[in-house]
Amino acid sequence: MNSLQVENLTKTYTSAGRQLTVLHEVSFALQAGDTLAIVGPSGSGKTTLLGLCAGLDRASSGSVWLQGIQLDKLSEDQRAAVRNQHVGFIFQNFQLLPTLTALENVQVPLELRGERNVARTAQALLARVGLGERGHHYPAQLSGGEQQRVSLARAFANRPQILFADEPTGNLDPDTGDTVQQLLFDLNKEAGTTLVLVTHDLELAAKTQRVLRMKGGRVVEGEVARTA
Ligand SMILES: Nc1ncnc2c1ncn2[C@@H]1O[C@H](COP(=O)(O)OP(=O)(O)O)[C@@H](O)[C@H]1O
Ligand SMILES: [Mg+2]
Repeated sequence: MNSLQVENLTKTYTSAGRQLTVLHEVSFALQAGDTLAIVGPSGSGKTTLLGLCAGLDRASSGSVWLQGIQLDKLSEDQRAAVRNQHVGFIFQNFQLLPTLTALENVQVPLELRGERNVARTAQALLARVGLGERGHHYPAQLSGGEQQRVSLARAFANRPQILFADEPTGNLDPDTGDTVQQLLFDLNKEAGTTLVLVTHDLELAAKTQRVLRMKGGRVVEGEVARTA
C-alpha cells in the first residue's frame, strides 16, 4: 500500500464567474517512510497541493489515497476523522489557537482522539521541541520560531503516519530552522513517518529522497524523482 497516492489531481477556483485552474493533473505516489520536498516559485500551487493531499480541501477532479483511503469519496467529517487518525500538518502561518496556551494547543489532537494522560504527553512533546518551560504561554507571548515549534509538537501528537509541513523553516532563524529540520527527519527515521514538505530552502530539499518541482500548477517534467 502506498502511504500517499495522487492521481490526475486538478483544482479550479471560480471567482467572479471566472475559472482559475491552479493545479493541473498532478500525479505521484509515496511509500511509507519516503521523504519528498515540493519546490517551485510562489503561486505555483504548492500549498494547494499539500492541502488536498492532507484532506484539508477537496479537488475539482482526480483522486488522493491517504494510507489507502480514497479521500474524495469522503464527507467533510469523515476527512476530519482521517486527518486526526493519520495526518500531522504544520501550517505556513502555524495556525495555533490564540485563546489556548502552548500546552493546550498540543493537547487538542490528543483530546480529540480520547487519549489518557494528555497533559503529560503534551508536556513531553513540548520538551522535545525545547519548550518544556513555556507550556503556560499563549501564542502571542511566543516568538515566530517558538510558535512554529509548538505547531511541530502538535503535529507530532498523533504520532502521524504521514506528516505535511508547509515551509516549516521559512519563518525561522538559521539555528531554530536547523532544530526544526532535525526534528522532522528524526521523526521520519524513528517512527517511519512519511514526510512531505514544501520549501524554498534548497539545503532542506537536498535532504529529502525525492523532489517534486512545480511550475504554474503543473509538475515540471523530467524532474519528478531523485534518489538520495
Ligand atoms: N481560495 C482561493 N481562491 C482563488 N485562488 C486561490 C485560492 N487559494 C489559492 N489560490 C491561487 O492559487 C494559486 C496557487 O496558490 P498556492 O497553492 O498558495 O501557491 P504556492 O503555495 O506555491 O505559493 C495562486 O495563484 C493563488 O492565488
Ligand atoms: Mg504556499
